[in-house]
Amino acid sequence: MTTSGDSLVDDGAVDERPEVLIGAAELARRVEELAAEVAARLPEPFTLVALMKGALVLAADLLRALDHAGRRPRLKLLQLASYGAHTTSAGEVRLVGAMPEVAGAHLLLVDDIQDTGRTLAAACELLRQAGAASTTTLVLLDKPTRRLVGGTPDLVGFEIPDLFVVGYGIDHAERWRHLPFIGQAPGT
Ligand code: IMP
Ligand code: MG
Repeated sequence: MTTSGDSLVDDGAVDERPEVLIGAAELARRVEELAAEVAARLPEPFTLVALMKGALVLAADLLRALDHAGRRPRLKLLQLASYGAHTTSAGEVRLVGAMPEVAGAHLLLVDDIQDTGRTLAAACELLRQAGAASTTTLVLLDKPTRRLVGGTPDLVGFEIPDLFVVGYGIDHAERWRHLPFIGQAPGT
């Protein structure tokens, strides 16, 4: 159907684009450093377990950076969901879909961001129950002032203040995962 130019540009709200907090080049540099730290720390073989969906972009970059670091990680996906509001996690974390087979494996558990710590703690517990030989934790972003459960992850990309961030796989109500940088979510 033909529409006027005006109706095309008016189709849907035009959102403010998030401002850059951590740029793409800085993310790429830090991911290479993290891969070198992982390579020095994890036994051979090991399996990268990516928490979906937030760690998707990080995991993809980290896998390739691990090749640069001379490692050959395997890949498994784990999806968890927490009930509740959009910008805080509600406290109850549940498994979505199938539990990956990890019995006997050394794991690198990768998440996008650690806030209260509930998600990472729940994931570690599930992996332990599933028989993982060891679990090393890595998050791109850590908000230490928000921690309620657990401690500091073994490897952290960047410590950030208590802001609600998006981009590089991280969403706000399923939006902004596509941004190649980390920014503050508009309106938060
Ligand atoms: P936690 O369970 O409170 O540590 O929260 C961790 C999860 O909450 C992350 O895996 C994200 O999915 C989500 N989250 C926490 N902070 C942010 C944020 O600033 N932006 C987007 N998602 C966040
Ligand atoms: Mg998440």
